[in-house]
Amino acid sequence: MDLFDAQQRMQALSQALNEHNYRYYVLDEPSISDREFDALLAELAELEKAYPQWVSPNSPTQKVGGQALDGFQTVLHKRPMMSLGNTYSYEDLDEFDQRIRKAKGLEDIEYNCELKIDGLAIALHYQNGQLAQALTRGDGSQGDDVTENARTLRSLQTQLSGNYPEEFEIRGEIFMHRKGFEKLNAQRAESGENLYANPRNVASGSLKLKDPKEVAKRPLDIVLYQVLEDQNRFKKHSESLEAAASWGLKTAKESRVCHGLSEVKAYLDHWNQARKNLGYDTDGVVIKVNDKALQAELGFTAKVPRWAIAYKFETEAAHTRLLGISYQVGRTGAITPVAELDPVSLLGTTVKRASLHNANEIERLDVRVGDWVFVEKGGEIIPKIVGVDLSKRGPESQPHLYIHECPECGTGLIRNEGEAQHYCPNALACPPQMAGRIEHFVSRKAMDIQSIGAEMAEDLVQTGWIKNPADLYTLSFEQLMSMERMGEKSAQNILDGIAASKTQPFERLLFGWGIRYVGETVAKKLAAHFGSLQTLMQADFDQLIEVDEIGERIAEAVIAHFSQERNRDIAQRFEELGLQTQTLKKEKQSDALAGKTFVISGVFAKHSRDEIKEIIEANGGKVASGVSAKTSYLVAGDGMGPSKLEKAEKLGVTLLSEDEFLALLDT
Ligand code: IVH
Repeated sequence: MDLFDAQQRMQALSQALNEHNYRYYVLDEPSISDREFDALLAELAELEKAYPQWVSPNSPTQKVGGQALDGFQTVLHKRPMMSLGNTYSYEDLDEFDQRIRKAKGLEDIEYNCELKIDGLAIALHYQNGQLAQALTRGDGSQGDDVTENARTLRSLQTQLSGNYPEEFEIRGEIFMHRKGFEKLNAQRAESGENLYANPRNVASGSLKLKDPKEVAKRPLDIVLYQVLEDQNRFKKHSESLEAAASWGLKTAKESRVCHGLSEVKAYLDHWNQARKNLGYDTDGVVIKVNDKALQAELGFTAKVPRWAIAYKFETEAAHTRLLGISYQVGRTGAITPVAELDPVSLLGTTVKRASLHNANEIERLDVRVGDWVFVEKGGEIIPKIVGVDLSKRGPESQPHLYIHECPECGTGLIRNEGEAQHYCPNALACPPQMAGRIEHFVSRKAMDIQSIGAEMAEDLVQTGWIKNPADLYTLSFEQLMSMERMGEKSAQNILDGIAASKTQPFERLLFGWGIRYVGETVAKKLAAHFGSLQTLMQADFDQLIEVDEIGERIAEAVIAHFSQERNRDIAQRFEELGLQTQTLKKEKQSDALAGKTFVISGVFAKHSRDEIKEIIEANGGKVASGVSAKTSYLVAGDGMGPSKLEKAEKLGVTLLSEDEFLALLDT
């Protein structure tokens, strides 16, 4: 076979195999036998061995998984991945519907109803019909690049057909069918490995495996439910899904357009039963306004779209005995009562404990030790007690007496006006509170000191050296070495981790401090708004509530925090220790690119497109989306759009590779 024939044959084989994969995994209508398929695949693999220069990363042979990775790159989402508001009640749905109808003066809203699959959210980016990047949801603003793993999913088309947009994003859920899950667990049982808790956990765990070949062995599936593109091609959400299906992508065949809320409810009633025969877990239905213009008009709250809501099905309950109630002390001193249950199986997991939330909840349920109770897994991970089986309660049963003293340090508990939770006020010396604060401080989304885990945080507090986060930075090697079971390597690791955390941005420091009500988002807002710890500490109530999304409750908590002498001391120590107590402005680095306009297209080896954009802007340049006479340079990566290239050539725009672009700055 000459070179030309070989290349032709490889292309033809790729195309045929993709088509067969599509027929088998997406349409469920195979047109050749497994054997024939394997023969074609083997032929392609053989040719790829001979001509490695023509192997595409999206080749059907890559479904068995490529090279293993060291880790995953964190990548900023081009558009944030929001979550959804959810409800279990029809009343909330009525309200949701009414609000939209009122705003529009419409009789009936057209909705698209989709099953809500319980898996792991994924964002796929396609360029010129090729899968370019797959990102996990992460924290919604940035996720992990799991492209290599995603490629191995049989039902995920890596090469599209039909009339697809040059560039778009599509989101969906990766999940595992119950059958596949059971088979996987059976294999693990045989080899004496721990069993997986549920299909959802395996699905999300699988995507985080570093070896794509292992991922390829997991029976994962995908359903796509949201197309995002810049050209506003679609008037209706349902049309965008139909189009995606026509490009070869797997969308849910169970989705329906419903006219008005009564049709929505009929859909819900149907699937509440029918879901049991699906072969995979759905926890509800996502109801979306179908008209894209109306979606845009309704917009988003801080967290969720106003044009969509998830209706959750009631879940199955388990019936078991309450053996006792224990109490946990959290990092804020909040006491959480925990039900200790006679282990019972619920939707594939063994449940031993359930949250009882607070004293009111125990009172409301009138739940007593020794009772038979009903346990459910609502949307949350931790199961909850939803009721007591009074028919099984004996005459000797006594109401439960809530504790008055902290189970850890013996301090009398307090309960603030209007709050359900009891607190242990001994914040400074109650060991689990101290350890909890350290644990929070070192956690991944805060200072990310991975060499210190929950147990180490407890041990460190136990030594008495660490009372607050600032103390961590004064730990010595000798101190660490004097701890039980501590080796030199771990001690050094811990110190290195602590030292490295000094460069974490201010917003993470603020979040890690564990100020009441100051979560990740609030910390970001505060850091961005005030710019420095000094300014934040001096801010008064009015200045605080001026900040977007900061209400009275948060403002008061921030003021209370900084009014304490010891926290002001810690603040000073943070500064002296050289931690980041200021927000880094995206400072201008140079004017090297001033007056130049760039267009970025394709994917790059060293940087994401957003990073390249940032570099350009930090050096005085401008970034435009389309090539025009004003374009100075087209920064061209792999898989760049042909129309952009054509236009650039016609207008005589200079093309730059990633390296050539970076060289512009090497002066
Ligand atoms: S739409 C802004 N549609 O539910 C729109 N989400 O609670 C948000 N999910 O992170 C997503 N099926 O992981 C949407 N048909 C569906 C879905 C769905 C499952 C998951 C998804 C998302 C979470 C939001």
